[in-house]
Amino acid sequence: MSRVQLEVDGIGIEADPGDSVLDACLRAGLAIPHSCRAGACRGCELQSVEDAARAVLACQTPATAGLRLRSGQAQLRRTALRLVRKEWLGDSTLRVVLEPQTRLQWEAGQYLFLSREPGRSRCYSIASPEELELHIAVQPRGHMSAWLAEDARIGDALEMAGPLGHCTHAAAQLDEPLLLAGTGTGLAPLLGVARSAIRAGHCAPIHLLHGSARPSGNYALDLLDSLSGVAVESWCLESHPDPRVRHGDLIARVRQFGSELASMRVYLCGAPALVSQLQRECFLEGVPLSRIHSDPFLPAR
Ligand SMILES: Cc1cc2nc3c(=O)[nH]c(=O)nc-3n(C[C@H](O)[C@H](O)[C@H](O)COP(=O)(O)OP(=O)(O)OC[C@H]3O[C@@H](n4cnc5c(N)ncnc54)[C@H](O)[C@@H]3O)c2cc1C
Ligand code: FES
Repeated sequence: MSRVQLEVDGIGIEADPGDSVLDACLRAGLAIPHSCRAGACRGCELQSVEDAARAVLACQTPATAGLRLRSGQAQLRRTALRLVRKEWLGDSTLRVVLEPQTRLQWEAGQYLFLSREPGRSRCYSIASPEELELHIAVQPRGHMSAWLAEDARIGDALEMAGPLGHCTHAAAQLDEPLLLAGTGTGLAPLLGVARSAIRAGHCAPIHLLHGSARPSGNYALDLLDSLSGVAVESWCLESHPDPRVRHGDLIARVRQFGSELASMRVYLCGAPALVSQLQRECFLEGVPLSRIHSDPFLPAR
């Protein structure tokens, strides 16, 4: 079958039949930010040239002849970064702090697309309203996480696109009880929301529930201890050597809130299966979707 021609940012691109627009762009050297390839992270969003209001997710759109698109997302501008700190928060979780080299606005709880070479990016959520603090779960041979853990040096240059996302503190609703629940490094955006809430003078209760399947996932216990004004609970499916971590299931714990949930604003982050189950449970308990903020950490593909 013959190849198809499309255009992105005025650049002519050839694609094989069956390619997604994202595949075609990446092969042509156009570094479109992306992560999930599942229509969830929205990093690959492009606009139609003919109709600027028509958004197109490049990973979900087949490359077809004559398609004309542009990558005009203002919020996805690229920013040069410098690695200024890295430290271990647990056996397999790294805290890194990055310094933007130009002015950058973000809200804690949003995520950015981090890259160390053009065309390959990974999403990471921002844990602080004050600095670009990320929590990285280190995956063996992970393109980004293992590199950050083993090879990256203070002062190294990286690039980000974004930020994006709506897992952020709703400053207008200071009197709404908050439920922040998640697993693994899903703690990063939850911590970001909690810190922003404290800073904004949130006056209703804030519950932060952090769970893990294995003890290594319950990291940053001292940091959580120091979070005043937040009711923190750490949970693990296995028994944990630290008495601050309770033995049990995060989902069962959330269920215990029962009808109280209906008045809460809920934030869910981390393992995709857990996020989607908790979303369902909260919705069925009466939390409207407009009050459920979630970021499933889909692995990059
Ligand atoms: C919106 C969003 C926000 C995110 N925020 C964070 C964050 O704050 N902190 C964070 O650590 N991650 C976060 N992620 C996940 C992150 O983007 C990467 O997928 C992850 O860091 C792995 O990238 P890598 O380059 O190190 O590994 P890759 O090179 O992508 O993968 C290396 C190997 O590890 C496996 N792998 C990848 N992820 C997992 C996993 N979760 N469990 C088991 N095996 C895995 C892969 O299948 C592969 O075999 C987020 C994802 C999304 C979509
Ligand atoms: S939505 Fe396309 S890569 Fe995530």
